[in-house]
Amino acid sequence: MSEKLDLILFGVTGLVGRYGVRYLYRLCKEKNLTWGVAGRSEYKIKKVLEKLEDETKDQSVAKIPIILADMSDEQSINQMTSRCKVLIQACGPLRQMGEVVVQKACIQSRTHYVDVSAEENFIDKIQVEYHEDAKKAGIYVVCACGFDCVIYDLGLKHLQHKFKGTVNSVETYLKLDYHNPTLTGPSYNVSTWNSTIDLLVNKHELKALQAKIFNKHMPKLKPALDTKYFPFKPHVEDGWSILLTGSDRSVMMRTQQYLYEEKNHRPVQIQTYLMLKALYYLIFFVIYGLMISICLPFKLGRKILLRYPAFFSAGVFGSREPSAEMCENSYFRLTFVAKGWKNKIIGPHEKLNEMPNHGMILQIKGNNPGYRVSALCLILSGFLLSTQSNKLPGKPGVYTPGIAFRDTTIVKDLDDHGLSFNVLNEFAITS
Ligand SMILES: NC(=O)c1ccc[n+]([C@@H]2O[C@H](COP(=O)([O-])OP(=O)(O)OC[C@H]3O[C@@H](n4cnc5c(N)ncnc54)[C@H](OP(=O)(O)O)[C@@H]3O)[C@@H](O)[C@H]2O)c1
Repeated sequence: MSEKLDLILFGVTGLVGRYGVRYLYRLCKEKNLTWGVAGRSEYKIKKVLEKLEDETKDQSVAKIPIILADMSDEQSINQMTSRCKVLIQACGPLRQMGEVVVQKACIQSRTHYVDVSAEENFIDKIQVEYHEDAKKAGIYVVCACGFDCVIYDLGLKHLQHKFKGTVNSVETYLKLDYHNPTLTGPSYNVSTWNSTIDLLVNKHELKALQAKIFNKHMPKLKPALDTKYFPFKPHVEDGWSILLTGSDRSVMMRTQQYLYEEKNHRPVQIQTYLMLKALYYLIFFVIYGLMISICLPFKLGRKILLRYPAFFSAGVFGSREPSAEMCENSYFRLTFVAKGWKNKIIGPHEKLNEMPNHGMILQIKGNNPGYRVSALCLILSGFLLSTQSNKLPGKPGVYTPGIAFRDTTIVKDLDDHGLSFNVLNEFAITS
């Protein structure tokens, strides 16, 4: 059998996959890595490669190996994973079918794995059920490598590095907006909508999974960070903040738990918020939230939600794919507000009488978070598994991006690709 490819991008025909293939092409060319593309439609894959050849004027693109694989066909998945050292999974939704790729294929063929999922129940299930198997197989499995979790998890790591002391708490504020607000059309793909509805319907699974993941014996930290359940106006952004539940926070918390258990670091308390730029957005948000929660418990309601994404999301999602123009029209700003103690390393069980005396504001920003940034984070994650294996955690297993890549060059690489990680301000806290 011919030698294994360094990397395969599975799901190259999707929107994330099509953005991703350009990054993969450039990075593999730079480092002379071998790579292939996979999906379930040869016709669609060839179209993607033709476009890449057109853009790069590189005729060798036509020779890139194409692997046909469908998540509903276990054998094809096995054949695909046994052809590479690292699988980059850009397919979705994953909750119903994605498990087979990790469970039956990557573990058996000892293939490292990264994916773009933001489906919290899928991410947690892989952690709970496959960490030990991945460890035995000697592979690294890293879910949640899209915009959502990578930016948060590695942003916090970068902030802690810059803080030079001990961070007690972090609040994050995510602002998503458009450069040109008059452009119309959906901004996000229907697969993300479908995953979100699926997650809401199956929220009960999440509780049971998280009870297994989160250690009940984590230290009780003081001062405790308050959760703001009601909308409020923060100091760092214009507009209103609402509590954001989802995979970003749980992935960051899992990283903090690992750092406490394995390295005896004091965990950071975290809360995540979403910015809405004016009061009327907040009112719309509540109305749409209510409409969705009325439909969710009923089979017919769920059918309607899946059928009419544009109606239930005020046009943010649509049944057709967002245009390239619309994707590039979007931008994000993620602001971290940290409080803690400057120049003091505090152990997880150390009791301090002193209140936090230092604050820091770190901001990450960039364009097209849903697709360009997600694809970049995903491809870099797979690429670093392949090229910086000496900087990964000593023991293989299932890890968050913040654990797997904390010692790699990922933050610098993201920065080099146009995402800025900037400390905006440092301030003294006087009570
Ligand atoms: N973490 C983040 O921040 C983030 C951001 C964006 C997207 N996402 C997630 O990433 C996933 C992909 O998003 P997208 O917008 O690229 O979606 P998309 O355009 O709908 O693409 C989905 C991809 O999955 C493939 N696929 C679906 N079912 C398959 C199966 N049974 N076997 C093999 N391939 C299958 C599709 O193949 P065909 O082309 O043959 O249909 C396509 O390549 C979604 O789950 C989305 O929620 C996460």
